Amino acid sequence: MSRKFYITTPIYYVNARPHIGHAYTTIACDTIARRQRLLGAETFFLTGTDEHGQKIERAAQAAGKTPQQYADEISAQFRQLWRRMGISNDDFIRTTEDRHKKRVQELFRRIRDNGYIYKGTYTGQYCVSCELYVDGAQPGDPCPTCERITETVKEDNYFFKLSEFQDKLLALYANPEFIRPEARRNEVISFVRSGLRDLSISRSTFSWGIPVPDDPKHVIYVWLDALANYITAIGYGSSHAGAQEAFKKFWPADVQMIGKEIVRFHCVYWPAFLMAAGLPMPKTIVAHGWLLFEESKMSKSRGNIVRTETILDVLGADALRYFLLREVVFGQDGSFSFDALVQRYNSDLANGLGNLASRTLTMINRYFKGEVPYPSHGASKTAADVAIAEAARKTIREFGTLFDQFQFSRALESAWALVAAVDKYIVENEPWALGEKQDEDSRSRLATVLYTAAEALRIATALAHPVMPEATAKIWAQMGLGDIQKLPLSELAWGQLPLGTKLGDVQPVFPRADKSAIERMQKMEEEQRSTPVAEASAAATPAQTTAPQATPAAVPAPVPAANEKISIDDFAKIELRVGLVKVAERVPKADKLLRLEVDIGTE
Ligand code: ME8
Ligand code: MG
Repeated sequence: MSRKFYITTPIYYVNARPHIGHAYTTIACDTIARRQRLLGAETFFLTGTDEHGQKIERAAQAAGKTPQQYADEISAQFRQLWRRMGISNDDFIRTTEDRHKKRVQELFRRIRDNGYIYKGTYTGQYCVSCELYVDGAQPGDPCPTCERITETVKEDNYFFKLSEFQDKLLALYANPEFIRPEARRNEVISFVRSGLRDLSISRSTFSWGIPVPDDPKHVIYVWLDALANYITAIGYGSSHAGAQEAFKKFWPADVQMIGKEIVRFHCVYWPAFLMAAGLPMPKTIVAHGWLLFEESKMSKSRGNIVRTETILDVLGADALRYFLLREVVFGQDGSFSFDALVQRYNSDLANGLGNLASRTLTMINRYFKGEVPYPSHGASKTAADVAIAEAARKTIREFGTLFDQFQFSRALESAWALVAAVDKYIVENEPWALGEKQDEDSRSRLATVLYTAAEALRIATALAHPVMPEATAKIWAQMGLGDIQKLPLSELAWGQLPLGTKLGDVQPVFPRADKSAIERMQKMEEEQRSTPVAEASAAATPAQTTAPQATPAAVPAPVPAANEKISIDDFAKIELRVGLVKVAERVPKADKLLRLEVDIGTE
């Protein structure tokens, strides 16, 4: 029987349209899932959307839509985007689906029947944007995670006995594989060591959620609802035999990938909920860092997002996939810029893998009528030929080890070191000069050089396939090797390129990008940002909803609603100025006012 492999992304909030920060988590998981499939594992890759809770309810309200309409629209945007990007998820769960709602209620019942839920009154601070109870905060305090002002909540709630799990959780973290990387594990351990308070797991002051079983005035806390997706999607809590079997087969998850800001939910609450329900623990929870743009975390509320579509339009999905995994050291924060993207694209893809493929295959076409030539054996083999074969063997080993430790950047670096070595080998052996000669020695040498280059190309292409599925499939087909998805990756070794293989049509896979590519992408994003966005900002806290009134003078009245466009006549009346904000400071005793000093140049 084949090994199973279950991998999950977080499910994405539907308050904001997708950006490349979301794509980052999804790409990393997709790459792992694709590699596991090639390695022969029966792989299940889950992603989806997180659609309940106060944050979504408010965002929908601000957009003048029902929460369901609103969630339908944005959830569809995620699905469309993933399709365009070649994301190979096996299921897409939405928390508003019936299958999910029923199974979450089943989980709630189970935890309650096991004695871990009681009724009480919650009084304290809540961050709607993070959907987080902020222990120990006072009214007016900011959220420690996102710095938005918390809101005071006082309600009768159901509580989860989180405090009973402190020791069991610490015992779980003794396994160094459970939370990765190490830095995140240490944070979680010290958080849990400092003591755990029971957790409110229901809300009664709004209704956009899953009703508590037998007490429908309450809805289940959105994080309990959302975390449960990882088991409801594969059949937990279903009475169907097929679903139960799938759950038995795939749970526990092998890898649960998350961003570092949601570590507490996944490494403290989630295992505690599972323990309370008597379910096994996931094997590994891996937290990645943030994608920064213009020096801060790319996020809708900061307004510094880059849309994935722009990059897909100009450079294609593979370019983005490669860039994010190669450029960002996994686990750490990494900066995104269009310059860096295009530079990487040109150096590693257009001039790197792409150029190796086209020069090698073009020469096989020219000198050997498009058939992979027979290399010479024994004495006529040079040290350089042997060194390339050795380098390729080493790359196969290294790439796998690094990749499976989530060190994508270093894994790709090792594969591209092979590409560079082959480039150098080609330059030094001058196949174009050998091709001009007709003597037997030169012909035989030429055959060996081109065979060696093609075999190294095949190996680099196979290793890179999970990262760049589309381009590598094209190179594979150009090499006459058929369907790359059938490649048995675990058997990949030097010397498997079938001699005499007839090449397919050879065409450039990564056309070089010039400066205008950067300008085009920047322009597309600028236009996007200056267009009024239909969706309102994240969790419209009272401070944010009243912003227009709080802004001092000089605002041309009337202010159009966020989703309303002004006419060209109105536009003509507007005077636009660009200014540099020199000073922005809090006004004493006011929590919604900032004093600004703006330099507008001439005046
Ligand atoms: O947290 N850089 O959803 P979400 C890197 N619904 N990753 C980023 C990013 C950035 N700039 N911005 C977002 C939620 N992400 C919950 C999860 S799971 C039961 C519920 C990543 O839409 C983020 O780190 O806010 C997270 O992994 C994912 O996008 C979803 O974020
Ligand atoms: Mg978030």
